[in-house]
Amino acid sequence: MNSQHHQAPYDKFAKFYDLEYSHKDNDLDFYLALARAFGSPILEIGVGTARVASRLAAAGFSVVGIDNSALMLKSATQQLSHLKEMLIGHVQLVHADMRNFTLETIFPLCIIPFRAFLHNLTMDEQLETLTQIHRHLEPGGILAFDLFVPLYQVISASEWHDKIGEEELHPENSGVSIDIKIKHRPEQQILRVTNSYFNRQDGKTRSATMNYRYIFRYEMEALLRLSGFQTIEVYGGFEKQRYNYHSGIMIFIAKRA
Ligand SMILES: C[S@@+](CC[C@H](N)C(=O)[O-])C[C@H]1O[C@@H](n2cnc3c(N)ncnc32)[C@H](O)[C@@H]1O
Repeated sequence: MNSQHHQAPYDKFAKFYDLEYSHKDNDLDFYLALARAFGSPILEIGVGTARVASRLAAAGFSVVGIDNSALMLKSATQQLSHLKEMLIGHVQLVHADMRNFTLETIFPLCIIPFRAFLHNLTMDEQLETLTQIHRHLEPGGILAFDLFVPLYQVISASEWHDKIGEEELHPENSGVSIDIKIKHRPEQQILRVTNSYFNRQDGKTRSATMNYRYIFRYEMEALLRLSGFQTIEVYGGFEKQRYNYHSGIMIFIAKRA
């Protein structure tokens, strides 16, 4: 295990992450189908609270999940303890950075669900991550991941706000609501997202910030090609719809050339 002593950006999100996303399930069948087609063990980059990994493990697949946030991994460990004992061993959590990791295993399939790849903030970081994945895939191995599409109507703004009320979070009785502030730095293709979590019960607000470097479709295909991957498919949704800019989502399936 590579240990990272500094705080990772997601450490501050960890406590609240599942309130917002534990119920997200629109991508699960898609990643399960890939596991069925390409086999395990599966390398999951940015495994987070094991939302996807626990589902894969419950279906009998082995997953090695890496994440650079110790607190997200702590939450993943709790999540996995709810799985039947015989399945818990199917997920191995590794505290490591996607830009620089070494594992013993070579994988037939690597997945990066829920746009974790966008946390690479420079071209060097993007290429470093793809190089590490390439090293850990079998020849002909598959890399699959989803990104959000940088929609013109969204990135035409330089700053905007959003709010998520208590009733929209799970569980509904947490007493927490979220105020979201997004700053756009177009010259860097970066969206800086600050979530302020207000807890009605103790009256306190806790904030956490993360950055996404958004990527356009052909920029992603170029990054893949530069790193020794061949793009096989680009989908516009988890039902394998054809890529459509306006769908807001793009999913890449690439093969280690
Ligand atoms: C949007 S979350 C996705 C979590 C999970 N895969 C899911 O689908 O719910 C992104 C994850 O990527 C992790 N991450 C961000 N930068 C990372 C890095 N450089 N190395 C490893 N993990 C990273 C974060 O800690 C976080 O858990």
